[in-house]
Amino acid sequence: MVTLPRIRVRPGRKLSGSVDVPGAKNSVLKLMAACLMADGDFTLTNVPDIDDVATMSDLLSAIGLDIRHDRTLGRLDINNAGGLHLVAPYELVERIRASINVLGPLLGRFGEVRIALPGGDDFGSRPIDMHLNGLTQMGAEFSIRHGDVHAFADRLHGADITLDFPSVGATENLLTAAVFAKGTTTIDNAAREPEIVDLCHMLVSMGASIEGIGSTTVTVHGVERDALRPTSHAVVPDRVQAATYIAATAITGGEVLVRHAIPEHMEMLLRRFDDMGVTVEPQHNGILVVGPEKLKSIDVVTLPFPGVATDYKPLVVALLSVADGVGIVTENLYPGRFRYVDELRRLGANIRTDGHHAIVRGVPRLSGAPVRSPDIRAGAALVVAGLVAEGETVISDVHHIDRGYDDLVGRLESLGADIARI
Ligand code: EPU
Repeated sequence: MVTLPRIRVRPGRKLSGSVDVPGAKNSVLKLMAACLMADGDFTLTNVPDIDDVATMSDLLSAIGLDIRHDRTLGRLDINNAGGLHLVAPYELVERIRASINVLGPLLGRFGEVRIALPGGDDFGSRPIDMHLNGLTQMGAEFSIRHGDVHAFADRLHGADITLDFPSVGATENLLTAAVFAKGTTTIDNAAREPEIVDLCHMLVSMGASIEGIGSTTVTVHGVERDALRPTSHAVVPDRVQAATYIAATAITGGEVLVRHAIPEHMEMLLRRFDDMGVTVEPQHNGILVVGPEKLKSIDVVTLPFPGVATDYKPLVVALLSVADGVGIVTENLYPGRFRYVDELRRLGANIRTDGHHAIVRGVPRLSGAPVRSPDIRAGAALVVAGLVAEGETVISDVHHIDRGYDDLVGRLESLGADIARI
């Protein structure tokens, strides 16, 4: 019988020391897809050692890129020798939502692509209508057959596109497609997460012409399909992994320097931490965190950047579970993203959900139990809760955590946590 890995956490000392934040999953996967846009040798550095990078590598290799990952150096060497296979097969696409990010680069550059409809995390339906509508405005045609989207366009043309909602993936696909379109494209109500800014910077260093980077209106002046050149680029630090170490420090009342965390990328969240009584002090090389004796309850609403990101929410709910008072957390992005609440309840948390609200009444202490990680972020939140749950918390389905966290267990252990992978 095969025994799958689990994470065992026991309450222990307050966390202390310093921890390095690795590169961002939600940036590196898109930067890897952008290597489809020019022939030659690319280098990506500050690459996190996470399973989604391996999955994206498999997908891009199937399309025709040659990828070498040096895990020790945190570096990807990617060669694009041309002759690409314009198909993204289901077996690979269904494993990560970010696989949809090959659509813009391939359709823009080659005028054709066949891609299976994407999968990803199991928290509600995640359509791609905004991606397809925007590309249609740029002259693309689509047919959906046997679960695949077939996309065609002789050559995309510029368009004025207004997104119904600032979707991260749609903004990225429209941006990358627009790089090769004839004329100018404006994307209004664009998403402006730091990972999108990172992608824009890489595209500009490859020769793309983009204005309004980091704003809600992005303008792309199209270039010829062979005009881009390869580049070297360092992946932006991961604000969600940074938030995880801040939350872990806060819940244990510890003191930790979270190195490489960029305060401007998580300003709203830092304010909420401050409201909870956590000291979060920007330093030249990161954020110094000092947890309080007792956390205070607050209300939190998730929103697109610069609001409090949905990916932070399970961490916030974990903290509120042991805070003083009652906090209401409102989810505005994914209707189904409260599944982990049942797991937190198994640890003794007092949480009631009502539509897209969670009402969290702080309890004096949690009690350890076996729990299951339902997705990447919820898994990390269960680990954080386990740091203060009496007895032992054993988290299964840790493959979800491995998708997006670079050695979570090792990093927490180095800060003094009683944690092991078993
Ligand atoms: N949506 C539509 N139609 C579309 C596109 C999106 O209805 O055409 C809906 C989605 O169903 C969802 C909401 O809009 O309810 C937000 O979707 P968005 O496109 O903004 O998100 P995404 O690109 O699919 C990325 C991250 C997520 C993160 C969200 C929001 C990657 C690979 N994923 O997803 O990260 O939660 O943005 O910030 O970048 C994670 O890392 O754990 C994760 C899930």
